[in-house]
Amino acid sequence: MIEYLKWDSDFLGFKTGLLQTNKDIQLKDELEKCRIEKYKLIYVFDEETILLPTSILQEYNGKLVDRKVLYEMQVPNALIANVEQTKPYYKQELTDDLLQLALVSGQYSRFKLDDNFSEEVFSKMYNLWIKNSINAKFADKVFVVEEAQQIVAMVTLKTKMDTLHIGLIATFPDFQGKGYGKQLINRTIQTALELGMNKIEVPTQFENKHACKFYEACGFKIKSKTNIYHFWL
Ligand SMILES: CC(C)(COP(=O)(O)OP(=O)(O)OC[C@H]1O[C@@H](n2cnc3c(N)ncnc32)[C@H](O)[C@@H]1OP(=O)(O)O)[C@@H](O)C(=O)NCCC(=O)NCCS
Repeated sequence: MIEYLKWDSDFLGFKTGLLQTNKDIQLKDELEKCRIEKYKLIYVFDEETILLPTSILQEYNGKLVDRKVLYEMQVPNALIANVEQTKPYYKQELTDDLLQLALVSGQYSRFKLDDNFSEEVFSKMYNLWIKNSINAKFADKVFVVEEAQQIVAMVTLKTKMDTLHIGLIATFPDFQGKGYGKQLINRTIQTALELGMNKIEVPTQFENKHACKFYEACGFKIKSKTNIYHFWL
């Protein structure tokens, strides 16, 4: 069944929906229905083992835009060291550093890589994301690392049930490989412990090899993989 996405439709300015495939769904019939219902964009979430047939992609103007990998970690019992340079960000002010880091975090986002979107859509979305993270609408905690009074790395965190979700995480390219990302993950584990969370989850893209290696080096395991398609009707 097609799920109407209000937030996405309002944000993008056209009717947008989500279709989660399963063995009972006839994708072609569903996409026909979407056309009749005047959807302009449909996100199709599909299992990653088989790719959708080219004929469907051609007929309904679809493409694979994200091979999503969801990483998960069981929160260890012990407290984690090596968090010294991280600190909570309490201010409501959106600095240029934070905004640029949000854009770095989204470099493999489907809203950036699908060229049917303008560059403006991606920057507007990540601008909103970080703004709503520091004002506590999208995130419960934001941690940063500073060097010479400049924010050079950050992570945003949101609790949901027994899981702490990482939203945005990035280190500026000139500061990568210095251990700041690892410190932010340690701080995330510490926060999960403090809040009594059992798990930590973070999504990334299969193409973002660097991030996949980073999460695996930090002890995350793959929980699921999903292929995400955009159909522009
Ligand atoms: C992923 C990212 C946040 C890591 O931050 P970082 O500050 O560079 O990470 P660290 O320096 O703490 O590295 C921690 C571990 O990750 C691994 N790692 C870091 N850079 C790596 C690279 N280029 N290739 C492979 N592994 C790497 C290392 O194994 C390192 O472990 P070590 O302690 O054994 O050396 C950072 O590279 C980044 O901002 N990337 C762009 C934005 C992005 O993709 N964000 C994720 C969105 S889902």
